[in-house]
Amino acid sequence: MKTRITELLNIEHPIIQGGMHYVGYAELAAAVSNAGGLGIITALTQQSPSDLSEEISRCKDMTNKPFGVNLTILPTFKDPDYPGYIKAIIEGGVPVVETAGRNPQEVLPYLHEAGIKVIHKCTSIRHSLKAKSIGCDAVSVDGFECGGHPGEDDIPNMILLPRAADELEIPFVASGGMADARSLVGSLAMGADGMNMGTRFMATKEAPIHEKVKQAILEATELDTRLIMRPLRNTERVLTNVAVERLLEKERELGAELNIDDISEEVMGVYPRVMIDGDMDAGAWSCGIVAGLINDIPSCEELINRIMAEAESLIKDRLTGIVME
Ligand SMILES: Cc1cc2nc3c(=O)[nH]c(=O)nc-3n(C[C@H](O)[C@H](O)[C@H](O)COP(=O)(O)O)c2cc1C
Repeated sequence: MKTRITELLNIEHPIIQGGMHYVGYAELAAAVSNAGGLGIITALTQQSPSDLSEEISRCKDMTNKPFGVNLTILPTFKDPDYPGYIKAIIEGGVPVVETAGRNPQEVLPYLHEAGIKVIHKCTSIRHSLKAKSIGCDAVSVDGFECGGHPGEDDIPNMILLPRAADELEIPFVASGGMADARSLVGSLAMGADGMNMGTRFMATKEAPIHEKVKQAILEATELDTRLIMRPLRNTERVLTNVAVERLLEKERELGAELNIDDISEEVMGVYPRVMIDGDMDAGAWSCGIVAGLINDIPSCEELINRIMAEAESLIKDRLTGIVME
């Protein structure tokens, strides 16, 4: 397939692996890129800019295809060394950056001067238009279904993607709820130039996370995610567990009085305990509704090849067959 995204990013298939905290390591990014998609390393999972430099060079040892780095600019509890991370990305010769969270206007000139393409992840049309106006090269449109932070507008991709197609001139990929060929073909039909997957890539052989996390995704249905931190306007979609239900109980009890400190036990320092140790009730971790569509743990190559082959047959056989002469 050739789309504006494959052309812009110089990749074979219009499939991107979104940045994921404590999941987006070199092993996963390289596997996705080697399979013809765009793999992404998550900058802030690396404890320092020099660790990120090391991770970028590990990834380069595993692939000679293009890969990207996710730079999440969120209202974090501690302020990371963003200039240091940007320097590591530029010096590492990374061709693509996925920005997320706050407006990336301040970092854009540095990245563009280094010839880096910037995809900004947005959960609304107004943020997508802003991204376009400040000069982002592409947008990743993250619908309400997505694992992680869906924003506060709650617009699912069935509406968000055609709206993006109507409003945006720059290329965009569909993100949130994407799992298979049906997701890809549906997204293309709605005007997107490709798709971005998070949760689906966690359940792959190369995802360097604990097997219990992959099993939890396989066992989960579309009814098993919850939205947390809504009262703090920092909504996150996570897989339910004991800690998440306790957190939601606190949210109900405290109402408007809720403070981040009240839920620190359920949200702080959770990722290494879940992703590395497999402590599944340690706290809240991001997961998309798409878990309900995930039933196996293929390699990234198997997954991407399957999606592309089935997408082709969906278009050529099913869709063409429906159209009457
Ligand atoms: C475990 C996990 C961690 C994530 N961490 C980040 C992150 O650090 N930065 C970011 O921009 N997005 C993050 N995301 C969001 C993904 O990049 C992607 O936008 C989202 O997963 C798409 O929805 P899907 O899970 O339905 O495919 C995370 C998602 C998951 C599932």
